[in-house]
Amino acid sequence: MRCLGIESSCDETGVAVYDIDLGLLAQGLHSQIEIHARYGGVVPEIASRDHVRRLIPLVEQVLGEADLAIDSLTGVAYTAGPGLAGALLVGAAFARALAYARNLPAIGVHHLEGHLLALMLEPAPPAYPFLALLVSGGHTLLVEVGGVGRYRVLGESLDDAAGEAFDKTASLLGLPYPGGPALARLAEQGDPKRFRFPRPMTGRPGLDFSFSGLKTHAAVTFRELGDDAARADVARAFEEAVVDTLAIKCRRALVATGLSRLVVAGGVAANARLRTTLAALGEKHQVSVHYPRPALCTDNGAMIAYAGCQRLAAGERGPLGFTVRPRWSLSDLAPPDSSPE
Ligand code: KG4
Ligand code: ZN
Repeated sequence: MRCLGIESSCDETGVAVYDIDLGLLAQGLHSQIEIHARYGGVVPEIASRDHVRRLIPLVEQVLGEADLAIDSLTGVAYTAGPGLAGALLVGAAFARALAYARNLPAIGVHHLEGHLLALMLEPAPPAYPFLALLVSGGHTLLVEVGGVGRYRVLGESLDDAAGEAFDKTASLLGLPYPGGPALARLAEQGDPKRFRFPRPMTGRPGLDFSFSGLKTHAAVTFRELGDDAARADVARAFEEAVVDTLAIKCRRALVATGLSRLVVAGGVAANARLRTTLAALGEKHQVSVHYPRPALCTDNGAMIAYAGCQRLAAGERGPLGFTVRPRWSLSDLAPPDSSPE
């Protein structure tokens, strides 16, 4: 099985080819960040139109660079949800049309399943089961991963995702979109002793998150002081609160499940303070902590090619007609052998 993977759920066009025996053969990405930056966030219609423009040239480029003939593909996988409806439809329509024209099986992949399995593309991936912390601009989840399609959602954000909270707070501090990485850099210069922000939802049992209050806390603190020097201190207090909260819930989930492997994925996994904090936690509790390389942490076609390939290789097939699911719970998924789409 050799799968073309197409990712178009948000503002990144991702294309890759994964071979079940040979591994990842090729990948390419086109990010729309610059186009959306001037609007301060992703504009869905602009995202869809850019996917339309970029997808075919990117597929040609990826196949060309790896010297792969289109005839060598034996399956097509695409992100079917969750995400922006129009953006998803572009990838789904392209993938389904290509599969139909080439008489190949096609499959719609859950975007978060892609993120959860991305680490499997690395040379020495951890064994199942593991605890996954997925922290991106769109999602914050703690999931027990028992294998392909075996997911138990232990906790999730009830409002803003961690990355979204970073971006919104960065914007309140006057940093350009997407401000997560810039806020992290600013926080480095901040005084850690000046402010202490709350660690939301850690005072009661449970593994859910809530980050929107922290953003407001940061905004109020900054506005009341009105002094520009406070920006870095606010950034520092905000970052420490988010990272601490994530670490507290990870520890709780590890204790509750007895798992000894932690996998961190999504754009916020790039955060240096989160990495240091989780490394210390891992050491203290004899838990190994794993990260996919940065290009596999953020949205990409490789994780979709991988997840789709596993399901197609197990015999799962999607119907000829197709739909996308802008809202789609991870809990709806089942292992490949028991779930004809
Ligand atoms: O997974 P991802 O690339 O995209 C989607 O969510 O679709 O994650 C992007 C998110 C953004 O919110 C970005 O600000 C955040 O990850 N991010 C960071 C850092 N690098 C990226 N947040 C905090 N610290 C970072 N170093
Ligand atoms: Zn994503």
